[in-house]
Amino acid sequence: MKNPHELIEKNVGLLTILVLVAISFGAMAQILPLMFQQQALEPVKGLVPYTALQLEGRDVYIREGCSGCHSQMIRPFRAETERYGHYSVAGESVWERPFLWGSKRTGPDLARVGGRYSDEWHRVHLINPRAVVPESNMPAYPWLADNFLTGEDTASKMEIFQMLGVPYTEEDIAGAKDAVQGKTEMDAMIAYLQVLGTHL
Ligand code: HEC
Repeated sequence: MKNPHELIEKNVGLLTILVLVAISFGAMAQILPLMFQQQALEPVKGLVPYTALQLEGRDVYIREGCSGCHSQMIRPFRAETERYGHYSVAGESVWERPFLWGSKRTGPDLARVGGRYSDEWHRVHLINPRAVVPESNMPAYPWLADNFLTGEDTASKMEIFQMLGVPYTEEDIAGAKDAVQGKTEMDAMIAYLQVLGTHL
């Protein structure tokens, strides 16, 4: 063999393996340091896990694809911090699985929307955004007010988060079902939106 590189280029199996090896070095260089970086592991002071109702609201947020139009990540640029508040820090997201940072902003960033509007505003807005923001092109989500939560799975969801290091107590888990049963998806969604970004 004159040129050993020719061997690699003409052998798809070998090429694939070597490409994967090369890529994995890049991935290791990016991912490994993060796994040991305190800043990305330590919750910010005052961070509290989602309550059972907020957690259900987050699942509805994921199901409805709100992240398709809303990011939850304020970048450290003046134009963003003046509009949305303090930029997002890693310690706020340590218990987020999956992350909902997003990258598409058809609507505003929601990382710190908690407390910006009243519960009633959110209720009206989610049922019909045009009722409060006439020029809005956000879809309406009226069914959230008609869908009731059973709370069947809430405790198991919290147990999984507990396994992953979120400090839920046995009490939180035992009370989960009662905390959400009979509430609507709208209640849960509003509870979730109202806590976003309020811990920093
Ligand atoms: C097709 C894109 C789109 C989708 C999907 C969408 N939104 Fe919006 N959203 C917008 C736009 C545009 C605005 C700005 C106008 C307005 O306030 O209605 C907005 C505004 C908002 C606001 C007010 C934010 C602020 O700071 O004024 C909230 C809260 C919100 N959306 C929540 C949601 C939730 C929860 C969902 C999922 C159930 C959702 N949005 C889905 C486009 C979208």
